[in-house]
Amino acid sequence: MRTFTVLGIETSCDETAAAVVRGAAPGPGEIISDVIFSQLEEHRPYGGVVPEIAARAHVEMIDGLVERALAEAKLALSDIDAVAATSGPGLIGGVMVGLVTAKALALAAGKPLVAVNHLEAHGLSPRLSAGVGFPYLLLLASGGHCQLLAVESVGRFRLYGTTIDDAAGEAFDKVAKLLGLAYPGGPRIEVLARTGNPRRYPLPRPMCGRDGADFSFSGLKTAVRHLTLGQTVNAADVAASFQAAVVDILIDRTRAAMEMFGSDFPDAAAPAFVLGGGVAANGAIRSSLQGLASERGFGFAVPPVRLCTDNAAMVAWAGVERAGLALFDPLDAPARARWPLTTPAAA
Ligand code: KG4
Ligand code: ZN
Repeated sequence: MRTFTVLGIETSCDETAAAVVRGAAPGPGEIISDVIFSQLEEHRPYGGVVPEIAARAHVEMIDGLVERALAEAKLALSDIDAVAATSGPGLIGGVMVGLVTAKALALAAGKPLVAVNHLEAHGLSPRLSAGVGFPYLLLLASGGHCQLLAVESVGRFRLYGTTIDDAAGEAFDKVAKLLGLAYPGGPRIEVLARTGNPRRYPLPRPMCGRDGADFSFSGLKTAVRHLTLGQTVNAADVAASFQAAVVDILIDRTRAAMEMFGSDFPDAAAPAFVLGGGVAANGAIRSSLQGLASERGFGFAVPPVRLCTDNAAMVAWAGVERAGLALFDPLDAPARARWPLTTPAAA
């Protein structure tokens, strides 16, 4: 397969990022440059991402980041084979900034455009880091997403489960807020949980044991709110009890998805189970899911944390994979706030 060098742009949430990646399917690829500006400080006072602030910060940062990505790669725009940008799903103002920038660069340099689905970019990232072969099972758990998917090929995914309310990272962030911890709360809860007793407070495990592999976290968050209202609690014990509940939920739902994957792909020998999204940084979650994978005959892969959280290298890599299949997009490709990867898997 021919090698492609692709410039990738990511602006769908609160990271402004640009990267240059070279490679060919199935990977691994070479990350030639990878620059990122995190808007965390801009949003921290509000305890979450404010779309208008995000869009403005993307506008201010994106040109400089693209220039830096090319300079660090020691490449000119004319050396690039294609320009890829996240075109959804995400905060529409931000998505438009990145996509319009990519279109302008593609037009000016006479290069093809790849309009990338952000979820597909997360989904293909284990191929960029480790050349993982199709098909594999992916748990994508971040502040915005919580999904279990079979990744069959570029553009072909089977959705086994998704959250019916909050994402896993969002639950971490909300519980952190209840405990008076700063945003984003996931890393702080993890640290606090290390010194807490996970059996101190009994908390619900919504959806566990149910058919399918969908998630729900809002009942858990509400239970923590009731716990913390009007009584003094031990914050470390709350953090540990909450994290233990999340681990149990992720294990139960992933086990169900592994069964679905096994019956959909009976010939896949030792398929990979891949963990992605910001929540993959959590050590307790990683080690319990790794245990489940080995118990169920799955290989276990976690891309480096820098590739698990939002970044432009994964967008550039999705561009490399799509360019290899000549899957380019017209210059009027739309920015989309919503863009599901799949319709639910057929029964
Ligand atoms: O993938 P990401 O950087 O951004 C998107 O949401 O797309 O994920 C950020 C989320 C936040 O909700 C954050 O609290 C959570 O990932 N997170 C963690 C940890 N590190 C980040 N959750 C649990 N434990 C962690 N160590
Ligand atoms: Zn993301």
